[in-house]
Amino acid sequence: MREQLLILDFGSQYTQLIARRVRELGVYCEIHPCTVPWADLITTETRGIIFSGGPSSVYDKDAPIVDAAILNKDVPVLGICYGMQLMTHLLGGRVGPLRKAEYGRAELVVDEAEGIFEGSPGYETVWMSHGDSIEEQPPGFRLLAHSNGSPVAAMVSEDGRLHGIQFHPEVVHTLRGKEILKNFVFGVCGCVGDWTMHSFIGESIERIREKVGGAHVLCGLSGGVDSSVTAMLIHKAIKDRLTCIFVDNGVLRKGEVEEVTQTFGRRLGVNLCAVDAADEFLGCLSGVTDPEQKRKCIGETFIRVFEREAGKFGKFQFLAQGTLYPDVIESVSFKGPSATIKSHHNVGGLPERMDFELLEPLRELFKDEVRAAGEELGLPRDILWRHPFPGPGLAVRILGEVTKERVDTLREADTIFISTLREMGWYDRVWQAFAVLLPVSTVGVMGDARTYENALALRAVTSQDGMTADWARFPHNLLDTAARRIINEVRGVNRVVYDISSKPPGTIEWE
Ligand code: XMP
Repeated sequence: MREQLLILDFGSQYTQLIARRVRELGVYCEIHPCTVPWADLITTETRGIIFSGGPSSVYDKDAPIVDAAILNKDVPVLGICYGMQLMTHLLGGRVGPLRKAEYGRAELVVDEAEGIFEGSPGYETVWMSHGDSIEEQPPGFRLLAHSNGSPVAAMVSEDGRLHGIQFHPEVVHTLRGKEILKNFVFGVCGCVGDWTMHSFIGESIERIREKVGGAHVLCGLSGGVDSSVTAMLIHKAIKDRLTCIFVDNGVLRKGEVEEVTQTFGRRLGVNLCAVDAADEFLGCLSGVTDPEQKRKCIGETFIRVFEREAGKFGKFQFLAQGTLYPDVIESVSFKGPSATIKSHHNVGGLPERMDFELLEPLRELFKDEVRAAGEELGLPRDILWRHPFPGPGLAVRILGEVTKERVDTLREADTIFISTLREMGWYDRVWQAFAVLLPVSTVGVMGDARTYENALALRAVTSQDGMTADWARFPHNLLDTAARRIINEVRGVNRVVYDISSKPPGTIEWE
């Protein structure tokens, strides 16, 4: 068992961010919906509880609440925004609507520089987002800070165990947010902060060994970050009893097959079976122009190839998957699974069909933690910091029909674009960048001859999580270099355009 914090989610868009901040302090924490039977979750290792914010008012008919008994456990609680209002409501204080909602940056006067405000200079720049506020703190609570809009912007119970804050310490706009959380986590809850990637890996290896016993594990390796780290972790735990299957679907980027086989098979010593199924996939894609049809065709072919190859290795009891914590939280959120988030499970459907037990060693990690784990496990930087790549690969970047010739054309152009970004120091500054081959021919002139060839689009976006995105503001000379090189070096392309759509309303991929 390890020390941990419990975060109860009341529907805030920032709940994941709270968890991220706590983990950055070296303390493991889990998010659970506020409706969870929390009594079972509080153990001797629970050092503290955080109530997240949320969009409701405590007076709403269907406002999310929690049994007040949780505040009587001998565990510190920090209520943030709605969490503070709920704490106040449950403990007999008064919450009321603000005449004018307080939204954005606010200046806080710290009345008592103690508890969570230990070390405060006496004022704080914070981020507020609320329509209700505390009109009267619960009996026995002391005022810690106030602002123009919030007479009770922070409060603490007599024994120093329960804290409420009206602002959001988890967002970067609260300038000393990290220190405030630190004070709660270490000062109030008494955490030690010994949760590191090193300790996570050690614990995971033990857990994998215990769960798998002497059985065999199969892993679909795509070369992406999640499946790569999953494979490495399991490999560390059970060595040769892990078999990875890497399927070349004919629509991967240039050099990808060699890179994966080289890295995993030769350098890292993973049991790797690379399957060349390019013709099978391209055969299925032949004549298909509809994007969803392309995805379906690739998904079905993948399952068929994977099953066939897996069958050659005998009996496997476990299938490894690179499920991450955001996927786990999404499916248990108190708001219910979000309708807006696309889930792209490349091996979706396999476990049900193949009678496997799932092994998901990254279920507790956020993406950046997965990268840190990968670094600790010795995976090369190129794999860990690679731009995301869709499961259906270049097929959804070749508009219209996918043919071997068009795949080759796009591969060349894409490689030139990406190497230009690397050379000019822009690769790590964007979320994703790639080329898209259009089903459009345009007129050009090369030498003295008229050409009538393909137009190609370049796409590059900045983003936090792929859910929203903005087009990358590259310097003109970068676009100029990439476009010139592509037109000069890639046969069949005589025009390059740059996509300046944001998401929404566009999407990152063109199909
Ligand atoms: P969109 O195009 O929806 O993309 O804005 C958001 C992110 O998801 C990736 N993407 C996919 N990944 N299978 C995947 O594994 C897919 O079918 C798929 N479609 C889009 C996209 O590259 C971007 O990072």
